[in-house]
Amino acid sequence: MTIYGHGIRTLGVLGSGQMGLGIAYVAALRAKVPVLLHDRSSAQIQKGLALMDRLLEKDVAKGKIKAEEAKEARDRVSVVPPEKGMSGLQDVDMVIEAVSESLPLKQAIFGSLAADLPPSTILASNTSSISITKIAASTIPEGHSASSKEGLQSPSRVVGLHFFNPVPVMKLVELISGLQTSQETMERAKAFAMACGKEVTSSQDVPGFVSNALLMPFINEAIMCLEKGIATRDDIDKTLKLGMNHPMGPLQLADFIGLDTCLAIQQTLYQGTGDSKYRPSILLERMVDAQWLGKKSGKGFYDYSDA
Ligand SMILES: NC(=O)c1ccc[n+]([C@@H]2O[C@H](COP(=O)([O-])OP(=O)(O)OC[C@H]3O[C@@H](n4cnc5c(N)ncnc54)[C@H](O)[C@@H]3O)[C@@H](O)[C@H]2O)c1
Repeated sequence: MTIYGHGIRTLGVLGSGQMGLGIAYVAALRAKVPVLLHDRSSAQIQKGLALMDRLLEKDVAKGKIKAEEAKEARDRVSVVPPEKGMSGLQDVDMVIEAVSESLPLKQAIFGSLAADLPPSTILASNTSSISITKIAASTIPEGHSASSKEGLQSPSRVVGLHFFNPVPVMKLVELISGLQTSQETMERAKAFAMACGKEVTSSQDVPGFVSNALLMPFINEAIMCLEKGIATRDDIDKTLKLGMNHPMGPLQLADFIGLDTCLAIQQTLYQGTGDSKYRPSILLERMVDAQWLGKKSGKGFYDYSDA
């Protein structure tokens, strides 16, 4: 029986939002692999790199890492600018995709990655809820059937690698196999998550996987409590913090995740199961319509304009 190490000499990270940046951080600092970071927006890349510098400085100041380690980690991260596109990720052994939570967007991206990158490149998604099987199917080369050699091979290197927010702090990665994912892909992805200093659990490829099939309905219920006037924002969060010992209340947590991401996950649960118990809160929909996306946009259930 072959035992696979991760074998990742260079990692590509697609999307430099809060998750992509965090993944680049642990890959460079903990797994010590060179990282190519790409986003469609140069402003986002700059914002991400500035955050990485701050995180490294903080870790040095707290004595968690040496200044030399921080410098080495930072030097491992390079940027593939928007104008270069995803073809700038040609030479990586694995891409971890962390763009916005949208099935059509992820399908288009995985279709392009599969067409542009060598067939041996592992294609991982950090999706919080979307079917890995559907994402994997989008890599079948045009003109080939799913049962052809190419149609079987390409989706077999797609895997779900679900990091948690904030990535440098949270200890878990959830590993998800699509119907088509090969054992080699699973083992290499798991080995990589462990090299990043994470513990790994596995979930079936169901809407939301284990983590968000449990967490997001809870957050959605909390927003419904607020919407119905059952309690104030502060009392809802305080109840869960002081009554259940949660480190933060569900409304604050929703702000940290991003309300657009929360809504997208809840919609995936609702549409993917057809069960009315997952209907997204109307207040959540309205806040996303208003572009009140939580911490990342400066306003959500709380105000972050000074942050
Ligand atoms: N926020 C969380 O707590 C959390 C936790 C686990 C997993 N996730 C998942 O991680 C992914 C990213 O979430 P996030 O919170 O980092 O979102 P975010 O909004 O902070 O960042 C998304 C990034 O994707 C980029 N992007 C969008 N379309 C692109 C494209 N076509 N090409 C290149 N870049 C593109 C945007 O410019 C942005 O920088 C989502 O799938 C989300 O569900 C989020």
